[in-house]
Order: sequence, then structure tokens, then C-alpha cells
Amino acid sequence: MLLDLLTSRRVVFVGGKGGVGKTSVAAALALGRAGAGARVLLVSTDPAHNLGHLWGRPVGDEPLRLAGPGDLLPRAGAGTAGPAGHVDGLEIDPERTVERHLSAVAETMRRLLPERMHAPAARHLELARQAPGTHESAVLERIAEAVELGEQGYDLVVFDTAPSGHTLRLLALPEQLTSWTETLLANRDRSERFGDAVRGLGGGGKTGRDAELRRILLRRRSRFSRLRDVVTDPEQTGFVLVLTAELLPVAETMEVYGKLTALGVDVAALVANRRSPADAGELLARRRRQEDEHLRRLRRRVPDVPLLDVPLLPGDLVGTAALAALAGRLGSSPAG
Ligand SMILES: Nc1ncnc2c1ncn2[C@@H]1O[C@H](COP(=O)(O)OP(=O)(O)O)[C@@H](O)[C@H]1O
Ligand SMILES: [Mg+2]
Repeated sequence: MLLDLLTSRRVVFVGGKGGVGKTSVAAALALGRAGAGARVLLVSTDPAHNLGHLWGRPVGDEPLRLAGPGDLLPRAGAGTAGPAGHVDGLEIDPERTVERHLSAVAETMRRLLPERMHAPAARHLELARQAPGTHESAVLERIAEAVELGEQGYDLVVFDTAPSGHTLRLLALPEQLTSWTETLLANRDRSERFGDAVRGLGGGGKTGRDAELRRILLRRRSRFSRLRDVVTDPEQTGFVLVLTAELLPVAETMEVYGKLTALGVDVAALVANRRSPADAGELLARRRRQEDEHLRRLRRRVPDVPLLDVPLLPGDLVGTAALAALAGRLGSSPAG
């Protein structure tokens, strides 16, 4: 059911509170779609990565094949006879991203600024490394890059995101970064006019520099606004909120649902994970009734989004076989 819901999208974010099962659901979703023939890129943006642990092999900052036609791919949907798909995984390394990002900026600055400005520029960058937004904007850049990578060589990009608050800040950032860039561009416009005015006095070099800065800013602006366009297009992007049917995860799900909707992001499905069985003793049956209560509350607040139950599974969710079993659950019919 979840798999069917998402077949038409090419970008899926999986979010929710820490520990509720985001990574497991994201991986199973990726595997399920690969079983239906899709080429899937699975990207972890959570600084506490565990894709590698889950797939039993080291996953790094570059895409790596996690499952292909030779592996046990679950058949999702009936009679999908096309070529087998695959899952590539990548864990965004924020430190490495910031390093790469800042050294690119440093390079540009050295090229564009006069010699005497090099030392102050280096000090400025050193401060930028510690600044609060740097980390996030670097990760956002990588998310944009992964979406672009998806356009080139994948049918679907699944993001296993950091716990929800962090992800929301990231999704809100394109707006902020865009307007920030606009401001800079507006300043550039003024200085370019200034540059025009002094060109007659031999300021041609400066005008060339302005044009290059402008190009760099524009490139960044168009990258973030492209990302925002993709993320807020329900035909292309869906957000899956994973929760356990308990007080705090349900409260947070309602809050995140409201914020995502306000940002224009489509919440495609809710997954109530690790549901207690009703027929395995009184303790679990009572838990089950308590969970039902929480889910009814969730339903009153979010009535229209499909809600899928995933039972508490007995074994460790590690390795392709276990993920394939979970993927099978994601293909089943919705909870009542
Ligand atoms: N349906 C389930 N049944 C049993 N264990 C589960 C289920 N879903 C997830 N888990 C286990 O719960 C733990 C947390 O899951 P994980 O996917 O890492 O959560 P998150 O990425 O949200 O922190 C893992 O040990 C995982 O194997
Ligand atoms: Mg995780």
C-alpha cells in the first residue's frame, strides 16, 4: 500500500522522531521499489547514520550498491516483469561536506579578492566553519545534489532524514537562503552600477569580478529554488512520517504534519510502526488498546492521509532478508 502510494513520486523523505523506525522504513521502501524494477538512491541525512549497520556493509559519502538483481529483491505489486532494479546508498558526511564547501568558497575568494584581503577572508571562513547555519546549508546543498543525481540516473531518491525538527529546518531553508541570496544580489546590482560608473576610470577588472560573483550567487540561488520546486510538488515529492503509537511520537507527528503542510510539502503517508499484537497476552493487548487510542487522536487531527500499520516484528531488522520482509509489510493493505 505504501509502495503503491509512492510509485509515481521520484523523491521521498522519511521522517519522524528518533528511534521510531525511519531508517528501517526508508530502507525497506527502497528495497520494495527496487523489487518492482526501480533504480533507487537511498540517502541518509541523519548525522547518526546507520544505513551501513542495517545493510551489513560500510556505506560512505559516495553512492554504493546495496542491493541489485543478484540479491533477494521482494516482488512488489503483481506481475512487474520489467528489468530488476537496484538500491544504491549514501550517507551524507556533514563534516566532509562543510570542508568541501568552504574550500571551494576559499578558492573563489582567493581568485576574486585582491592579495591584501586574503588573510581577512581566511579568518572570515574560519568563523563561518563554526557558524550555526553552515552545517545545515552544506547538508541542504548535498540534498539538492542528491535530487539532481536522482534526475540523472535513478527513478527514486529516498531520504532517511534526521529527527524531524532538524529536517524541517532544512526544508524551510531554501526560502531563507534564496532571500539571503536575493539581498546579496541586490547589493551586487548597486555595486555593478557603481562599477559601470567607474569603468571609464579604468575599473573594468572590478566589473568582471562582480559578474563572476553574480554568476556564483545565481547558480546557488537557482539550485535551491529548483530544490524547493521539487520538494513542494506533490507529483514529485512525498513525505512519509513514521511514528510509534505512543504519546510523544503522536504529538510530534501532528506538529510536524502541520509544519510540513504549511511549507507546502505533501505528507503522503503515516506509518504506525512496531504495533503491538492484540493476541499475544494481556500486557501486549493492553498496549494495543492504548496505541489504538493514540492513533484515534492522530486520526482526528490528520484524517485524510493514509495510515499504515506495521507490526512489531520478532527478529532484528538487519540485512536484506529482514528488510525484504518489512518491504512486504509496506506493500500490504492499510490499517483500519
Ligand atoms: N516493526 C519493527 N519491529 C521490530 N523492530 C523494529 C521495527 N521497526 C524498527 N525496529 C527496530 O527499532 C530500532 C530503531 O529503528 P530505526 O529504523 O533505526 O529507527 P530511526 O531511524 O527512526 O532511529 C532498530 O533496532 C530497528 O531494528
Ligand atoms: Mg535512523
